[in-house]
Amino acid sequence: MLKICLNIGQSEGADDFKQAESRRWCSWSRRHCLFFLMVSAAVLFFYNINIKITPEWNPKQWISFKSWDQGVISSNTNDESITTTELTTVAQSVSEINSSPFVQTTNITSTEVTVTSTQTTQNETMPPTPIPYESQQLYLVEYPYDYHFIINEPHVCEQQKPFLVLMIPVAPNNRRHRDIIRNTWGGENLFSKVVKLFFLLGRHIGEGAENLQIQLLQESKEHQDLIQSDFMDCYKNLTIKTMVMLEWLDSYCANASYAMKVDSDIFLNVPNLVNMLSTAPKTNYMTGLVTKDAAVLRDPKSKWYLPVDLYPNSQYPHYVLGLGYVFSMDLPKKLVEASKHVKALYIEDVYLGLCMQYLGINLTEPPAWDYFNVFPVPYSRCAYSRLIATTTRENTDHLWIWKNFKEPGPYC
Ligand SMILES: *[C@@H]1O[C@H](CO)[C@@H](O)[C@H](O)[C@H]1NC(C)=O
Ligand SMILES: *[C@@H]1O[C@H](CO)[C@@H](O)[C@H](O)[C@H]1NC(C)=O
Ligand SMILES: *[C@@H]1O[C@H](CO)[C@@H](O)[C@H](O)[C@H]1NC(C)=O
Ligand SMILES: *[C@@H]1O[C@H](CO)[C@@H](O)[C@H](O)[C@H]1NC(C)=O
Ligand SMILES: *[C@@H]1O[C@H](CO)[C@@H](O)[C@H](O)[C@H]1NC(C)=O
Repeated sequence: MLKICLNIGQSEGADDFKQAESRRWCSWSRRHCLFFLMVSAAVLFFYNINIKITPEWNPKQWISFKSWDQGVISSNTNDESITTTELTTVAQSVSEINSSPFVQTTNITSTEVTVTSTQTTQNETMPPTPIPYESQQLYLVEYPYDYHFIINEPHVCEQQKPFLVLMIPVAPNNRRHRDIIRNTWGGENLFSKVVKLFFLLGRHIGEGAENLQIQLLQESKEHQDLIQSDFMDCYKNLTIKTMVMLEWLDSYCANASYAMKVDSDIFLNVPNLVNMLSTAPKTNYMTGLVTKDAAVLRDPKSKWYLPVDLYPNSQYPHYVLGLGYVFSMDLPKKLVEASKHVKALYIEDVYLGLCMQYLGINLTEPPAWDYFNVFPVPYSRCAYSRLIATTTRENTDHLWIWKNFKEPGPYC
């Protein structure tokens, strides 16, 4: 910074007048100089931020901030919500990685990839860290594999021929989220179109598993909306959950027109969704928050880290963010077929993107850019009457929001 100021004085040494001028500018008016320095600092700062972020835009990086935030809140409550389970698993795997003895590879390809785009800034701040060797198995999941349904609803679709099926992955012990959804947007009767809702579970492992299973059978008898498969339910196995969901749709609900996968912490405006679908393509259709050209996260500490040897491209395929994606009912069969040819990564939405790419089917942008929201939209009747899906904060009072939202009167 100081150099900039000194240069003004030095570079014009030949011309006495100018030299005097510039010296005066610097010595007489220190305020000018200081102001100039501050402006340059600000410009440089934003310039650096920009070149760091733009080529590495990745929505997941931003979401991870949100998730950690939620994790802190939800771990204070006694409830084992899906986010907490997810986070503990991730925290565990991160600490596993950290504590495992690093095998330093001489291969610097991965380091090069991370450094190139931020070379100017990274050089000065810290030396590039060598990426520790990782077994691919940590980032691949056991799929395709012959999983079995332990709890099933094989006849509901046959009998009711739904227009839309909502599939909600949720941890087996997260009864709270299931009840909230049943009592809010999941329980709404639309009259115009049949909408069915199912919760998708894996097998709970560990303490209390047997008891929980008995409770799940009871809950299933009560609500007839649970689908449970026998894979181990954990964050790293979400891809299995998604693929099992597609298998289920193909086997037991192929006569529906559309399906949507929705996370359990989402507020969904079902009438708006049905409205959008009434004019949507009937085949090869997948929409939601479409993400293009996102940079792959190469930081081993990242929740969504992918090693280079497993996925060499520096960008993900185009994919729809996992918070909620909608698709036509011809796709489950095609995606299940594609999955036999695409290695199953643990990042479920990215994996579906790869399968779509394999199939050569383009993703469809929603009719409005703000229909699907990955950052929680603060509640107002007006805002929620216009969107289709938004994430919510962990401490949101869904029941209050729903009661308020359903009150008669204008939304805006
Ligand atoms: C090192 O790089 C080569 C070629 O780029 C690749 O085939 C090999 O799998 C890499 N090894 C490791 C351990 O990443
Ligand atoms: C930055 O890193 C590159 C490659 O690692 C090296 O050639 C260059 O000298 C470094 N520049 C500075 C200013 O350290
Ligand atoms: C779909 O509908 C056809 C005829 O309407 C019926 O034969 C078939 O069993 C149905 N399939 C499913 C999975 O419900
Ligand atoms: C994922 O599920 C499979 C099948 O149940 C299991 O073998 C595997 O250990 C699970 N993965 C993790 C990380 O728990
Ligand atoms: C998908 O999009 C690309 C580029 O936008 C276009 O060239 C291609 O024809 C599209 N494919 C299909 C099947 O619509």
